[in-house]
Amino acid sequence: MLVAGNWKMFKGPQETVSFLESFEAPAGVEIVVCPPFTSLAAAVGRGLAVYAQNVHWAAEGAFTGEISAPMLLELGVDGAIVGHSERRQLFGETDETVRLRCEAALDAGLRVIACVGETETEREAGETDAVLRRQVAAIPRHDALVIAYEPVWAIGTGKTATPELAQEAHETIKELHDTRVLYGGSVKPDNAAALMTQPAVDGALVGGASLDPDSFAEICRAAVS
Ligand code: PGA
Repeated sequence: MLVAGNWKMFKGPQETVSFLESFEAPAGVEIVVCPPFTSLAAAVGRGLAVYAQNVHWAAEGAFTGEISAPMLLELGVDGAIVGHSERRQLFGETDETVRLRCEAALDAGLRVIACVGETETEREAGETDAVLRRQVAAIPRHDALVIAYEPVWAIGTGKTATPELAQEAHETIKELHDTRVLYGGSVKPDNAAALMTQPAVDGALVGGASLDPDSFAEICRAAVS
């Protein structure tokens, strides 16, 4: 089981250090934290795997505001999230840029959590399967890559996919891509165990509930079984 905390645009270096000082990591689960870029250096070397929330496909160049894989590796960062729905919806990320980012990160030696998931409109229109097929097709096959299934309607909304619905989507993804699949979207201490006991659910990508060390630790404990 792998549990990753996506802190989004929360926690500067000081809050990062206080989180990691009070977080009690259980044994028997792979734990990752994904702080904002400016907090990565503060997070590295404190016993947990550290991933960035995005990574550019070029090693360097005229790409104002972007960060490359070699830059992350130089800091001691272990991996990166790629293609989060907030990047896709708010910052113009496409299947093609997701592919480029994944390939460059993996080639450079980073691990990757590649995100897929349908919007509410797509689900209601019966397009979930087609959307997952299209998004998964853009994701490279690699030992250092896992996929996160995050239905967009469940992110930050408190609406969690039922364990059965998550299981169904994970089965679809696993038929297309032989990899571990994490579930993400309003994972909380009280629903984590039910989601992670589904056979095709290999862990969780946690947003809001990963910001508090106690609630994140509780979710990590739910993954140990
Ligand atoms: P959430 O976010 O747990 O706050 O719904 C999940 C994510 O966006 O990765």
